[in-house]
Amino acid sequence: LDAPDADPFAIARAAAADIRRLTGVEQHDIAVTLGSGWGKAAELIGETVATIPATEVTGFSKPALEGHVGTLRSIRTPGGRNVLIIGARTHYYEGHGVRRVVHSVRTAAAAGVQTMVLTNGAGGIRETWRAGQPVLIADHLNLTADSPLEGATFVDLTDLYSRRLRELARTIDPSLDEGVYVQFRGPHYETPAEVRMARTMGGDIVGMSTALEAIAAREAGMEVLGFSLITNLAAGIQPTPLSHEEVIAAGREAEPVISSLLARVIGEL
Ligand code: 6GU
Repeated sequence: LDAPDADPFAIARAAAADIRRLTGVEQHDIAVTLGSGWGKAAELIGETVATIPATEVTGFSKPALEGHVGTLRSIRTPGGRNVLIIGARTHYYEGHGVRRVVHSVRTAAAAGVQTMVLTNGAGGIRETWRAGQPVLIADHLNLTADSPLEGATFVDLTDLYSRRLRELARTIDPSLDEGVYVQFRGPHYETPAEVRMARTMGGDIVGMSTALEAIAAREAGMEVLGFSLITNLAAGIQPTPLSHEEVIAAGREAEPVISSLLARVIGEL
């Protein structure tokens, strides 16, 4: 993937072939990337058909962080859909380049996936939000100054986070708020001034993932549904300093509620 003349789409097709061989599943319909806090959702979605270490799939790299699981899982829903669970997110801040960041999304597309569900743990900018609350992503601001698209690929991003799928999610939980996700490069959290900037720009949620992946998903022609778990309020919004441990703990606490939400939404897709 790192070689300048490598074809990331050919590598994604090779990865999809690995997944077919290792899971025995010919075609996946839905893919779900599990962010901090969302890890337990897989069990509720359906029957696990196969679990494979991401390291056995072409182009996937080792997980960098606690709370990020390095496995891919194939699940069959009660409705008979095949769901590819991606517990092996590569973050932009790891510095391996944007191709690696979106490789799982391109692999899902090559595996036949038409609906890409992206989840993450993130900071909330709205004072009315609380740690442990899931929110729908309605749109994003990509502040990484990078793009997964190479060359003159002018992809339209209107309705990137599908209105249809957001409405479907609200039939499961009508209380779901939605907001604009701001992807910062990280790995440090934002300064209070950067959070004020994000708010002024129209942002509601700050995080370090998802936007680049959503762009790649749109390029591949998939429909995107995005969820953030608010693990904390952003710097300057909450009175106390932010810590990674706090983020992980909030995820753990919210896990049962958001897992069942996600499983029910996927059951309706
Ligand atoms: Cl406050 N910022 C970012 N960028 N990512 C986060 C976060 C904040 N809280 C959890 N993840």
